[in-house]
Amino acid sequence: MLTSGSRGTFLLLVLAEIASATNIERHGIVSRYNPVRTASSNSTPMQVGNGHFAFGADVTGLQTFLPFAIMSDWGWKNDSLPDGTTEADLEAYRGETWDGVAYLFGGPEPLQDWLTANPGRANLGRVGLLFVDEVGGVADVAEGDLEGTSQTLDLWTGTMTSSFQWQGEEVAIRTVAAQSNDAIGVTITSTLVERGRLGIFVDFPWNYEGPFFGFQAPFVGFWNETSKHTTSLTTGPGLGDNIGAAIAHTMVNNTFFTVVGGGDSFSIERVSADEHRYTILPNASISSFSLTIAYAPNMAKTIPTVDNIKMESESVWKDYWSKNGFIDLVTGSGDARADELQRRIILSRYLMRVNEAGDTPPQESGLVNNGWYGKFHMEMFFWHSAHWALWNTWDLLDRSSGTYARFLSTSVQRAQGQEGYATGARWPKMTDPSGRSTPGEINELLIWQQPHPLVFAEYEYRAARSDPRATLERWREVIRATADWMAAYVKRNESTGFYDLGPPMYVVSEDTAPNVTRNPAFELAYWRFGLDHATIWMERLGEEVPETWTEVRDNLAPLPIEDGLYAVYEGIPSDFWDSPTYTSDHPALVGLYGWLPQTANVSLDLAKATAEKVWVSWNISDCWGWDFPMLAMSAARNGETEKAIEWLLHPLFKFDDVGMPVPMRRYIATPYFPGAGALLYAVAMMAEGWDGSGGAAPGFPKEGWQVRTEGLSKAM
Ligand SMILES: *[C@@H]1O[C@H](CO)[C@@H](O)[C@H](O)[C@H]1NC(C)=O
Ligand SMILES: *[C@@H]1O[C@H](CO)[C@@H](O)[C@H](O)[C@H]1NC(C)=O
Ligand SMILES: *[C@@H]1O[C@H](CO)[C@@H](O)[C@H](O)[C@H]1NC(C)=O
Ligand SMILES: *[C@@H]1O[C@H](CO)[C@@H](O)[C@H](O)[C@H]1NC(C)=O
Ligand SMILES: *[C@@H]1O[C@H](CO)[C@@H](O)[C@H](O)[C@H]1NC(C)=O
Ligand SMILES: *[C@@H]1O[C@H](CO)[C@@H](O)[C@H](O)[C@H]1NC(C)=O
Ligand SMILES: *[C@@H]1O[C@H](CO)[C@@H](O)[C@H](O)[C@H]1NC(C)=O
Ligand SMILES: *[C@@H]1O[C@H](CO)[C@@H](O)[C@H](O)[C@H]1NC(C)=O
Repeated sequence: MLTSGSRGTFLLLVLAEIASATNIERHGIVSRYNPVRTASSNSTPMQVGNGHFAFGADVTGLQTFLPFAIMSDWGWKNDSLPDGTTEADLEAYRGETWDGVAYLFGGPEPLQDWLTANPGRANLGRVGLLFVDEVGGVADVAEGDLEGTSQTLDLWTGTMTSSFQWQGEEVAIRTVAAQSNDAIGVTITSTLVERGRLGIFVDFPWNYEGPFFGFQAPFVGFWNETSKHTTSLTTGPGLGDNIGAAIAHTMVNNTFFTVVGGGDSFSIERVSADEHRYTILPNASISSFSLTIAYAPNMAKTIPTVDNIKMESESVWKDYWSKNGFIDLVTGSGDARADELQRRIILSRYLMRVNEAGDTPPQESGLVNNGWYGKFHMEMFFWHSAHWALWNTWDLLDRSSGTYARFLSTSVQRAQGQEGYATGARWPKMTDPSGRSTPGEINELLIWQQPHPLVFAEYEYRAARSDPRATLERWREVIRATADWMAAYVKRNESTGFYDLGPPMYVVSEDTAPNVTRNPAFELAYWRFGLDHATIWMERLGEEVPETWTEVRDNLAPLPIEDGLYAVYEGIPSDFWDSPTYTSDHPALVGLYGWLPQTANVSLDLAKATAEKVWVSWNISDCWGWDFPMLAMSAARNGETEKAIEWLLHPLFKFDDVGMPVPMRRYIATPYFPGAGALLYAVAMMAEGWDGSGGAAPGFPKEGWQVRTEGLSKAM
């Protein structure tokens, strides 16, 4: 309902939204998709969390049998430097020089490997149920020894409830994540607790992310390498409010703290000096044992009580579901597919808030496990996080959108180091929280991450959520530096007079030879989009638009066309549609009009014909994750609404029983959350429309679907 860039209608819009906010029975729709399990999955956990921190559980609501991870946006560690190298060697690291430009790949191997793997994201530990035998020893129990296992995640309150019988007695466990702390609150209720037969254990893994351990899933870290790291326990009064014990965990030079308390009085013991496992039992004979377990990079002075955590989780999650955008497909739709699409939407909304709302852009597998050492990829930031804007979930997007401002100075240095550009910032690809980019040919030569800040900035401006002038100012330097680099990166082609993109460069699908890749269609359109929006931004600010931006924008090379269709890049072999080399992986050609709004140099007829050619000629079996929502957005904008639904529900685009987007193929992080982010972006666009779209739910078929929305914004 928000028309593009229109701010005058905002008040009316707010009133309209308040009036309509009661129309959809949100609680009923959300709760309908509460995940239920009767056994642990051996690949995905059930999770609670807050976006900065997430806790993955097995069927006991803890990590009793399976060590799913506890991960955060702050828990990063470095391994020791390679033998014989110093910090100064790291700083001096340079790789190959191509045509006079030094890149960060192909340098000395030990340093390259270290820089690739470090810092790596750490699994902070493990919390499990402790079974005690009749004589007070630790009982060896397997999941198969339990009966009646049952587990439900209440999405509306972020509460996981697990229950079973052990030796004929009932056990119930409630697990909740704090929202303003990185902690869980656990309550175990059973007559077994009363008799001293149940407690909790905590444990700590050695985290190692050396060259071969970039992907660690479903479990992260090594539990057997106990001599490589240390833990030390402190107990007693004086530690702080509510705190009964603290464990410092040190790996090389990195120390994290685990603080226990916030509930019933307990005793804690280290199992043995050469292990990092600690057992915790209630001091008194009580039928219900509650404990807060909090994780932090520094020793906390206070931690929340279990009761506080429960109340906070209930109110924060309720607000999340009630006050942001919402789509109801199930109340009136006759189409049988509405239910599965709604399930994907609800579970994705839950998991994005648990895994993908931290201070940095998310990693591909969120806070579930490690892919690419836990680092994040700036080109994926769009697919992970742009949906927050369409769903008007600004508090969560605000946490990470400041990343561009934080990475500005290192990105300016990168630009200067590579080509000696006097101005501008080149955004990194695979990145750590300090903004350091990871060596690698693709990492250094990819460019489609560059225009993304213009998208985030534009949505923030349109949302009219604060003083628009403040938004313009906040993004000014980032936008200026982004566009300066875009204008500097192109090369003027003396024979055509146009500005060319590349070589060397990698395209979105990362599968063309960098030294021959010139003027790729998608990147040209996105460059045009970026320079257009940067220009508009400066005009809004009342500032002069740099001449080079206009000169480059208006003279970018034309999009390559072969036989009446757009081509991946200029000069690609003309039979490329028949070649598996070029018709695999991300089909960014469909993004020309779909993912992107129409840019001045894109012909809609050609874009549509190209998209339809992709449908028949691309190896769809090789597509994954966000490819399907991208195909859906293209179909939707081209008026092929039935096809749009089919892409969103394609058999190769899967979401498991708890809603994790699980790819079907090859060595990529699982779950692969860009798929979930893209689903939410696409479905919001199809439901609420895009600039210039007409009618309600323009991306949905007219027959069989009744689409009701509240609080969404249009896509560009
Ligand atoms: C890891 O080492 C790098 C290089 O010395 C340093 O810049 C960074 O701050 C370290 N990170 C952590 C989490 O220790
Ligand atoms: C750990 O700290 C020591 C002493 O401060 C330092 O010499 C060493 O380089 C550090 N190691 C890493 C991997 O950061
Ligand atoms: C690309 O060109 C550079 C400079 O001419 C050369 O050093 C490099 O090996 C080439 N790379 C590839 C992948 O062909
Ligand atoms: C721990 O397990 C890993 C992987 O299974 C193995 O490579 C390593 O050698 C083991 N370490 C010890 C100390 O047993
Ligand atoms: C709980 O019991 C342990 C061990 O008996 C004792 O050291 C500790 O002080 C007790 N804690 C409280 C709060 O009573
Ligand atoms: C300039 O453009 C022409 C035609 O597109 C192309 O053949 C040529 O390789 C380009 N020149 C350079 C230096 O890239
Ligand atoms: C791209 O669009 C601009 C603005 O409409 C136009 O001036 C320019 O000629 C177009 N360039 C090409 C190569 O089509
Ligand atoms: C299409 O992709 C699938 C999955 O990667 C692969 O197994 C198959 O060989 C590919 N087909 C062709 C024709 O390349």
